[in-house]
Amino acid sequence: MNNPDLKQQVDSRRTFAIISHPDAGKTTITEQLLLFGGAIRQAGTVKGKKTGNFAKSDWMDIEKQRGISVTSSVMQFDFDDKRVNILDTPGHEDFSEDTYRTLMAVDSAVMVIDSAKGIEAQTKKLFQVVKRRGIPIFTFINKLDRDGREPLELLEELEELLDIESYPMNWPIGMGKGLEGLYDIDNERIEFYRPEQYEGERFVKLTNGEIAGDHPLKEKSIYEDVLGEVELVREAGDQFDLEKIERGDQTPVFFGSALTNFGVETFLERFVDLAPKPHAHKTETGEAVSPYEEEFSGFVFKIQANMNPNHRDRIAFVRICSGTFERGMDVMLGRTGKKMKLSNVTQFMADARENVEEAVAGDIIGVYDTGNYQIGDTLYEGKLKVAYEELPSFTPELFMKVTAKNVMKQKSFHKGIYQLVQEGAIQLYKTYLTDEYIIGAVGQLQFEVFQHRMLNEYNAEVVMTPMGNKIARWIDPEQLDERMSSSRNILAKDRFDQPLFLFENQFAMRWFADKYPEVELKSLM
Ligand code: G4P
Repeated sequence: MNNPDLKQQVDSRRTFAIISHPDAGKTTITEQLLLFGGAIRQAGTVKGKKTGNFAKSDWMDIEKQRGISVTSSVMQFDFDDKRVNILDTPGHEDFSEDTYRTLMAVDSAVMVIDSAKGIEAQTKKLFQVVKRRGIPIFTFINKLDRDGREPLELLEELEELLDIESYPMNWPIGMGKGLEGLYDIDNERIEFYRPEQYEGERFVKLTNGEIAGDHPLKEKSIYEDVLGEVELVREAGDQFDLEKIERGDQTPVFFGSALTNFGVETFLERFVDLAPKPHAHKTETGEAVSPYEEEFSGFVFKIQANMNPNHRDRIAFVRICSGTFERGMDVMLGRTGKKMKLSNVTQFMADARENVEEAVAGDIIGVYDTGNYQIGDTLYEGKLKVAYEELPSFTPELFMKVTAKNVMKQKSFHKGIYQLVQEGAIQLYKTYLTDEYIIGAVGQLQFEVFQHRMLNEYNAEVVMTPMGNKIARWIDPEQLDERMSSSRNILAKDRFDQPLFLFENQFAMRWFADKYPEVELKSLM
């Protein structure tokens, strides 16, 4: 497909996901970003809702817009000549393998951290998935308007727990009630939190790292303290290194408060500048396809099944890797060799009125699916004939024993289970000797979706018995000795008949490792 502006359009794309622990402020910051991008008109801050700052009709309007924007899986807006795609990574009870797979479709990630809590469990898990991909990670330390931990301590924790270098782009001047502003190392200026206290000026330029002449901030002791801290990190900390950032070995750190919209714009401006444009994607053969390749290609990274029993339709989310998508185009589905017409497709436009019918490499499209697509499928146009690398499997942490409720319906039970496993909705294991079915997931919701879809799509009612959290570790079949199985682990095999142990807890795993030091315990991604 001929698109003369393809390179320019691709280069303007910034496709990323926000990773964080529930309550760190992902929704709040997303909303602020959408606001800056003009994708919504008014910030529906939770505070606003609680104190009734907005008239009711206003609020409903915002909710309606948020319904489309914030709760949907992909949000798109334009900012500074860039087209930004934010991919949602559901947290809380929605957390699932889809959350991890979404991270396979982005070019960078933004990690939001609560300044009082530091690195929390879910952030760490998501971070590790991103880190393995070697893509840039930007950090936003949130909630400066509340008393939190010392910035130096937070940076130390980042480096220790996540094993990544950090570079502070700015530095908080106070926190909580004493928050004065940000010492913006990157832009050589100070950004005031309450400009009205400083004659209305939001920024003041720095000369040789200091405010020139008299200024009321200089009379406060915090000013000298911050100068000292900034000097310390300049001298003892890591130097800004773009190459390291691009490899995901250094994270630029921004401070701010999403709720009061402080520091968010400063972050966004720099982020769209530093974040990478779409890169070449690797195929199964190890070669990479350039995003500027004219023919369209992409891969399915997520399938969202409709939970409404009256609708069996699903949406397959496709990350475009090359070329231009046009509504109604014909593409090949590599796995089946079938020709597919991409007519019923959702695009995630900032402004529906534009009614743009095109999307390019870096963008995400949602393809209406009646059961043709699987996670990891490649779609391509014309002669391109590519197959993108298989998406990784993720080590499940939650397990259930599963049986068919009605023994007469074994056939549909097996068909359903195998199809859902193939599709990537759930992982399947069997106990090693007795062949009982065990299903594994990274989040509880996957079990609920599984149960629901088994009933509605395959007419198979399932009985699930929780086994709780387990640590799954694979071993070399050659090293397997059935006597290694004990009351603190379950010996199982995966769907490729590879043996693994499901350990009760870390203690049980360590005990095993001590007892059988020659046996290597391997996890998936
Ligand atoms: P999430 O999507 O990461 O789960 O977080 P979300 O944005 O929903 O924010 C979680 C809570 O933290 C919200 O409070 C939100 O208003 C608050 N919050 C987000 N950013 C900031 C910030 O910069 N400063 C302060 N002080 N609060 C912030 P909430 O819904 O009222 O719930 P609650 O948890 O306070 O009860």
